[in-house]
Amino acid sequence: MPDPDDHQTDPPPPAPVPVVLDCDPGHDDALALLLAHADPRVDLRAVTVVHGNQTVDKCLRNALAVCTLAGITDVPVARGADRPLVRPLRVAPDIHGESGLDGPDLPVPTVVADPRDAVTLLHDVLTAAEQPVTVVATGALTNVAMLLRAHPEVVRSVRGVVWMGGSTGRGNITPFAEANAANDPEAAQHVLDSGVPFTMVGLDVTHQALVTADVLGRLRALGTPLARTCVGWLTFFAGTYDEQFGMPDPPLHDPVAVARVLDPALVRVVRTHLVVETEGRWTSGATVADLHGYSGRAANADVALGLDRDGFFDLLVAAVASYG
Ligand code: BDR
Ligand code: CA
Repeated sequence: MPDPDDHQTDPPPPAPVPVVLDCDPGHDDALALLLAHADPRVDLRAVTVVHGNQTVDKCLRNALAVCTLAGITDVPVARGADRPLVRPLRVAPDIHGESGLDGPDLPVPTVVADPRDAVTLLHDVLTAAEQPVTVVATGALTNVAMLLRAHPEVVRSVRGVVWMGGSTGRGNITPFAEANAANDPEAAQHVLDSGVPFTMVGLDVTHQALVTADVLGRLRALGTPLARTCVGWLTFFAGTYDEQFGMPDPPLHDPVAVARVLDPALVRVVRTHLVVETEGRWTSGATVADLHGYSGRAANADVALGLDRDGFFDLLVAAVASYG
């Protein structure tokens, strides 16, 4: 006869990781936002928007439209920098369209922007948090660098910066620079120099997250309006990637950075010395990861090299499904 007092209780699930998302939606940023808000392992506390895929105003409108579409009403969204720290603005209509999120029609946003600017919102959220917060950044690092410049002491409130950007090899906007790195190399180097724990989730892994027909099929099979919109975004993205790079199965860059936070085992990293080229005539924005230790310099970053692709897309499809 079992003793009724002798029951086993499951351990409580670990507390969600507090996260802020700094982004430039952007097709893959939109999916990163959906993933970060859906998964119970993350407590998304703020969304801040930066220039990049389009002007900051267009990216802000897109972020608000994504929140409206998905019913995300409990997360403040703030406008950030409208240009890089020292370089001219460069946007990417060739990849993300004139709106920055071309493809399916989006609702006129009913979610409104927070009155604070991105640096103020980030500072408020980080300093109010009961534990250090992870900053997931999926655009140029201008907002994050401006935060660390204005409030250097906030480093103590940052558990780490997990950045979609860079590459240990070739680039995607110049031969050696990835777009988020090339758009503001000085900002990326400033964040590295701040000493904040830094993870680079670059093209090495995001080009392992290719949206193949089976992924589109799984999303389509969900049959929800949001899933249909995601398929529309990814179909647009596939078209521009095919035109620009001859890649009809586009890489889903930004959600991989979120996945690294949700389930670190999905993204394998190596610890190494990392620096961003800010002076190169032909290579500015190149992220130079000293994988073989040539420089003898101390490691200052985790650099992502491997992705559990199946695990990643399971996570993504489940996130979209969770919105119903
Ligand atoms: C990065 O650039 C942008 O087009 C994407 O949103 C992603 O953050 C990939 O190089
Ligand atoms: Ca992005």
